[in-house]
Amino acid sequence: MTAALSKACLRPMTDAVATAPALPAGLLAALTDLLGPSGVITDPADLEPHLSDWRSLYKGRSPALLRPASTAELSAAMKLLFEAGVPVVPQGGNTSMVGGAMPDESGSQVILSLQRMNKVRDIDPVDMTMTVEAGLVLKTAQDIAAEQGCLFPLSLGAEGTATIGGVLATNAGGNTTVRYGNARELMLGLEVVLPDGQIINGLRRLRKDNTGLALRQLFVGAEGSLGIITAAVLRLFPQPRESAVAFCAVPDEDAALALFRRFRERDETAIRAFEYMSGTGIDLTLKHIEGAVLPIGERADHYVLVDLASSRPNAGLAEMLESVLEGAFEAGEVVDAAIAQSDAQRHAIWRLREEHPEAQRKEGASVKNDVSVPVSKVPELIRRASAACQALIPGTRPVPFGHLGDGNIHMNLEQPVGMDPAEFLARSHDIMDVVNDVVRELDGSFSAEHGIGRLKTDMLADWRGGAEYETMKRIKAALDPKGLMNPGKVFF
Ligand code: FAD
Ligand code: MLT
Ligand code: ZN
Repeated sequence: MTAALSKACLRPMTDAVATAPALPAGLLAALTDLLGPSGVITDPADLEPHLSDWRSLYKGRSPALLRPASTAELSAAMKLLFEAGVPVVPQGGNTSMVGGAMPDESGSQVILSLQRMNKVRDIDPVDMTMTVEAGLVLKTAQDIAAEQGCLFPLSLGAEGTATIGGVLATNAGGNTTVRYGNARELMLGLEVVLPDGQIINGLRRLRKDNTGLALRQLFVGAEGSLGIITAAVLRLFPQPRESAVAFCAVPDEDAALALFRRFRERDETAIRAFEYMSGTGIDLTLKHIEGAVLPIGERADHYVLVDLASSRPNAGLAEMLESVLEGAFEAGEVVDAAIAQSDAQRHAIWRLREEHPEAQRKEGASVKNDVSVPVSKVPELIRRASAACQALIPGTRPVPFGHLGDGNIHMNLEQPVGMDPAEFLARSHDIMDVVNDVVRELDGSFSAEHGIGRLKTDMLADWRGGAEYETMKRIKAALDPKGLMNPGKVFF
């Protein structure tokens, strides 16, 4: 994607300037003394993968990538950077959808990676907690919990790359929020290095801890704008003993919601995920993702993925799934369904959902709207936002999908067939505006789980203006008085 994005809401991508301003004299040498040669990366080829984002929205520049090996090393490095007034951009797996982990084009911001801080410090199946360093990859955390017979339930498409630091810093949601909550609810304690190098050691594994302000929660969802998360105590859960997964074709958006209500009324605690997909989204997935197969006979305009799980022995989930679906067939809320009979089939169904972002990326230019509304308003959101975008740019292909059970729909738009991708992307701001107008009328939010990053700073000021935004800015000024933490992200 080479197009510059237009208008204030989307920061224009600018060409790299030839030479980066040097860091203050002696700083690189001091940092290398502190972190060792493998802790300070300046080779352009090694820096390259850290300078563009997953969506190719931004191309940044940076004089160095810092890779401390411990909290003490990071703290000492932050002191040096603070004294020298050097801006710092924390970067985890670099899967941000909003350019949150990108340095800007000035070449003055160092990137901070916790790649070398990826240890599991402790795992306790009695307390049901796991204390991990922030550079640990989410999937590895899930696997290590599973080896102990426990579940760390946070699950999202980027889990093989995203890190614990990144998912906490963005308060990631994902597929299982409907059951287990967002990243915020899965964290009990946090270790943080502040912009001036001070360490907050809040790695407490307590279920109850009313001791003044819950500072730990400030850093979750702050997207690296207040400090660096270095380690966390995560909540674990019992591993499910049984699960049941179905892929259903439904006649319309109202039927998708009605089906969710049916499952909720039968047994809310059994729902692990409830995801909506459009006919267009599945068409693109079948077209672009190798090995993807539609598990039912006929194409439909709307689909739902239901995933039930229980840690109870003999929970009877297969019977429950079948009986709820039968009721839904009779009521005309489901027209066809495939129930997975094996792990391979479960995986194949989930793949149809998880590969949506990749399929959209392969199809051409797309604009993402990670929005949420009260669950009851999801059908209206999908219908009204789709119509508004098609009226704005005839031929635009709505690809709404995602976490129906949380009221969080990715109201994404794919460019019209044959349109110049740059021309479509130049309308990004207009598209986001028409979607957000609908979201506002439905009492929703313009950012459900991806955060603000660099992409949506103007929206934050607009939507959360007045006392709410002023209070956020006061907290930012108090913790980061020199404005060195992830500048240009979250706040103006
Ligand atoms: P990065 O992208 O590296 O960073 C994200 C933000 O956190 C940046 O602002 C960065 O500065 C900050 N940060 C990173 N590490 C730290 C740290 N240690 N301390 C302080 N700040 C830090 N998100 C969802 O919520 N739900 C989804 O279902 C979902 N699906 C996705 C699917 C795909 C294919 C992709 C590419 C992304 C998806 N995301 C989703 C978006 C993304 O937010 C998550 O992947 C994840 O939360 C980011 O983790 P990361 O380690 O890659 O962080
Ligand atoms: C997902 O749920 O797959 C991502 O958060 C959505 C996206 O790519 O817009
Ligand atoms: Zn999502």
